[in-house]
Amino acid sequence: MENRIPLIAGNWKMFKTCPEAVETAGQLARLVADVTDRDVMIAPPFTGLALVAETLKGSQVSLGAQNLFWETEGAYTGEISPAMLASAGCTYVIIGHSERRQYFGETDETMNKKISAAIKSDLTPVLCIGESEKERESKETFSVLDKQVTKGLKGFSSADMETLVIAYEPIWAIGTGKTATREQAQEVHLFLRSLIEKKFEKGLAKSIRILYGGSVKPDNITELMAMPDIDGALVGGASLDAETFSKIVHY
Ligand code: 13P
Repeated sequence: MENRIPLIAGNWKMFKTCPEAVETAGQLARLVADVTDRDVMIAPPFTGLALVAETLKGSQVSLGAQNLFWETEGAYTGEISPAMLASAGCTYVIIGHSERRQYFGETDETMNKKISAAIKSDLTPVLCIGESEKERESKETFSVLDKQVTKGLKGFSSADMETLVIAYEPIWAIGTGKTATREQAQEVHLFLRSLIEKKFEKGLAKSIRILYGGSVKPDNITELMAMPDIDGALVGGASLDAETFSKIVHY
């Protein structure tokens, strides 16, 4: 795994009211207080961010948002700017999650604008990519990922992408209990690292963190993390309970 620090991130999606978010974040902060050799991040819904930031102060756990809008401010009802997220205490932002593509019409082009906006505000983007079941069955996995990476990262330099994290989330494995085997995940992660080397620089390909996401649980994290190109996990359902997520963090 070279010198890459593992990142275990929890995407809470549209779960938890403010009091629930604060309670879970507080429990998690206590449970992972001993962790020094890996990064931990949680991404609560927007409404919980500022409160959870207070709860996480002085802890090992970083705060992320699940989305942003690329403009700095303006008449964009319902949207949230990068500076707003930073001021709420976020240091990470998840971008291009397949649920945003599926339900809210996000594309590789909007993703590209969002990544650019995140970088300008010193937020670490976690770019989500992944193929559908149909695409995997018709052997289009690599071409789909190539397109997502090429369009999503168009125009960036290696320096721009220094902190960027990629999350490979096969859509067929999200919330289904069907995890990619560690060999399937490793094959894709290696492909992505080679793609980054081809399109950017060797140094970036070596340092960039590529997370796996899709039904990650305490009982499959260890085998996934044993693979050389898997640098962490983006966890959905199993990140909602502090004890379960702490077990994943302590893989
Ligand atoms: P699950 O872990 O619930 O499958 O969700 C994965 C995911 O979408 C994380 O972003």
